[in-house]
Amino acid sequence: MLNQKDFEILYPYLKNIVNIEIKEYPNKTKEAVLEYSNGEKYIKCLNNNKKPVKAGFSSIIEHFTRGDYGNSSYRGNCSGLLIKDLYQYFGPQKVLDPMCGSNTSGEVAKDLGINQISLDLNPKFGGFNILKDAFDQSFDLIFCHFPYFVFKGSKMPVYSGVMWGNPNPYDLSRINDEYKFTTAINLAQAKMYQALRKGGRMIMLIGDSRFRGRYYSMFKSMNFYGDIENILIKRQYNCVSNNIAYSNKFLPIEHEYVVVLRKNDEYIVHCIHVTTQIKNIMECKGITWRSLIQSILEHFGGKASRGQIYGELKNHPKAKNNNFLKEKIRQVTNNYKDFIVNNSVVSLVALN
Ligand SMILES: C[S@@+](CC[C@H](N)C(=O)[O-])C[C@H]1O[C@@H](n2cnc3c(N)ncnc32)[C@H](O)[C@@H]1O
Repeated sequence: MLNQKDFEILYPYLKNIVNIEIKEYPNKTKEAVLEYSNGEKYIKCLNNNKKPVKAGFSSIIEHFTRGDYGNSSYRGNCSGLLIKDLYQYFGPQKVLDPMCGSNTSGEVAKDLGINQISLDLNPKFGGFNILKDAFDQSFDLIFCHFPYFVFKGSKMPVYSGVMWGNPNPYDLSRINDEYKFTTAINLAQAKMYQALRKGGRMIMLIGDSRFRGRYYSMFKSMNFYGDIENILIKRQYNCVSNNIAYSNKFLPIEHEYVVVLRKNDEYIVHCIHVTTQIKNIMECKGITWRSLIQSILEHFGGKASRGQIYGELKNHPKAKNNNFLKEKIRQVTNNYKDFIVNNSVVSLVALN
């Protein structure tokens, strides 16, 4: 909390301020993080009269303003100040943004005097299709802000046919099958990696999506090509979803990820491949008897006779070579706190 004395100390520095964050540390040090309308941040210690110092870059990125870059009405646009932080920190010479949208990154690059190629499936930026076309040159930084995964029927941003031109089947925002979307993102990433110089970086801005209780995590589903150098969390403000009064109980998504992958070797690529499997525990040998019987009781609505449990279990791979299955069921249902047995009927106990 700011008291009168803090306010007097800060007063000379409040011109063009967009946000003040107060941090209090256990050793009684108190500091204010001052963010100005140009996105610059300074830290002023409130225990002395020294001048504010420029704030560094950390693994959590938040800006209360987006900077005068790109077009704030282009859906899914990102903050130019985030990109400015990244470009200033990594100091690239030649940048590519293959999905530049309203060209936020291109305008930042111009401002900083960095050479950038901005492409997009949108014909305004060359109609470049990352899923089909090849890059004709290489770069030491590639910034890529993928479209969100768009659940069918949701209001997430769709680009072709909405923000520009006609619907295009290669538009990632139109691929609303999770598996096909992930495959497309991985292909795009592999192509970008190939266009990197040794020592170069691929920086991907990634957001997860949710619709009607379903969650798609692009971050968790995608592969990574290259060595992980940093994973940053970007706080997300002003999302359309934040203004919706949710009837169900869940947390709104207020963050995105900034993944920084580095190409450290000309030949060897560090790959993290993600595979998704759907498993049926009725086919798994590795499951415990307690867990199996718990699931069977859940299947029967919380209560089943030992005969019904036997009927479900008898073809299970764990039961196949067990000549004493009935005895096993009796032993497990008698011995675990999860179960209550009454006249051979087993119930799953309430959790409280
Ligand atoms: C999230 S937006 C980028 C927004 C941008 N960072 C900005 O601030 O305006 C993603 C962009 O990916 C483009 N896109 C979708 N599919 C593509 C593809 N196959 N090849 C190239 N660009 C694609 C869309 O047209 C859209 O402009």
